[in-house]
Amino acid sequence: MARQWYRGKWRVNKEIAPLVMDVLNQLTQRGLEVKHEGEYWEFWSYHPGDTWSQEQKEIETRIALLTTLFSDASIECEWESFLEENWQNNWRKYFKPQRVSSQLIVFPAWERYQPQAGEIAIWIEPGMAFGTGTHETTQLCLKTMLELFPEEKPQSLLDVGTGTGILAILGKKLGIKEVVAIDIDPLAIEAAQENIRLNQIKDIKLEKGSISEIRGSYDWIVANLETKIILPIIKDLKNCARKTLILSGILAEEATLIQEAMDSPCRYTRHQGEWVCLVF
Ligand SMILES: C[S@@+](CC[C@H](N)C(=O)[O-])C[C@H]1O[C@@H](n2cnc3c(N)ncnc32)[C@H](O)[C@@H]1O
Repeated sequence: MARQWYRGKWRVNKEIAPLVMDVLNQLTQRGLEVKHEGEYWEFWSYHPGDTWSQEQKEIETRIALLTTLFSDASIECEWESFLEENWQNNWRKYFKPQRVSSQLIVFPAWERYQPQAGEIAIWIEPGMAFGTGTHETTQLCLKTMLELFPEEKPQSLLDVGTGTGILAILGKKLGIKEVVAIDIDPLAIEAAQENIRLNQIKDIKLEKGSISEIRGSYDWIVANLETKIILPIIKDLKNCARKTLILSGILAEEATLIQEAMDSPCRYTRHQGEWVCLVF
C-alpha cells in the first residue's frame, strides 16, 4: 500500500539556511533535497504521514526560536502531501556510507561492499526510523560499544529504543550471544525487522514495548533516548543492567541531571558535537 508523506518546501535567507537545515536534519535524519543556493536557499524536507503532525509541531517550535534569536531570519515553508511511490527513489541519493571508525562502516541498504578482515559493515534501510548512523548520538553509542567490547565481552545486550536496529545489529556482529531490542514505535519495529534481515542476522529478539515490560537483566544495556525520556525510566534501566549501562541522546549541559538521577559514578564519558554519552 502506498504511504502518505508530507514535503516541506523551504525558502530561507542564506545566512540562516544552514541553521534551519541543521534543525531539520537533526529531527528527521532523512536528508534534505537542496534545490537552489543563492541569496535565498530553497530545499525540501520529507516527513512520513504517521509522524508528520508531531514533527511539524517540533519543527515549528525550533523555527520560532531561530526567528526570535536572529532578527534577520526570513524563513518560509509551504507544506504539501504526496504518496510514497513518487518519492522513494529521490531521497535515497542523500544517504551515503558513514565510516564510524576504522573498524565500522555503515552503508545504505543499496550499496555493495565486501568488508576487509577485522572490519564490520552494517547495512541500513533508513525507512521511517531513527538510526542511519549519521547522527552524533548514534555514533557515540556505536563507538562506545566498539571501545568497551574487547575488555568486557558481554554475553547479553538490551537495546532500548532500537529505531532502525543499528545498535542491536552491531551487538550481534560483535559476537554478543543474546541480543534483545525494544521500541515503543511500531514503525521502528518494522524498520528494525527489515534491517536485521538485510544484515542476515537471525537471532535478535525484537519487541514492541518499553523497559518497564522487561523481565530479567542484561550484561549491557544501550539506550539512545533523549534526557527527558531517560529520566523517568532511569531506575528501570539501572536495575536491568548487570554490568554496563550506556546512555546517549544527552546534551552536554544535561549530563549532570542524568548523573544525579543515576546516583552512581559515571565511569566513562564520550563527547561528540553538543552530545555526550555516559557509561555507568
Ligand atoms: C533517538 S532514537 C535511537 C535509535 C537508534 N537506537 C540509534 O541509536 O540511532 C530513539 C528511539 O527510541 C524510541 N523510544 C522512545 N521512547 C522509548 C521508550 N520509553 N522505550 C522504548 N523506546 C522508546 C523511539 O521510538 C526511537 O525509535
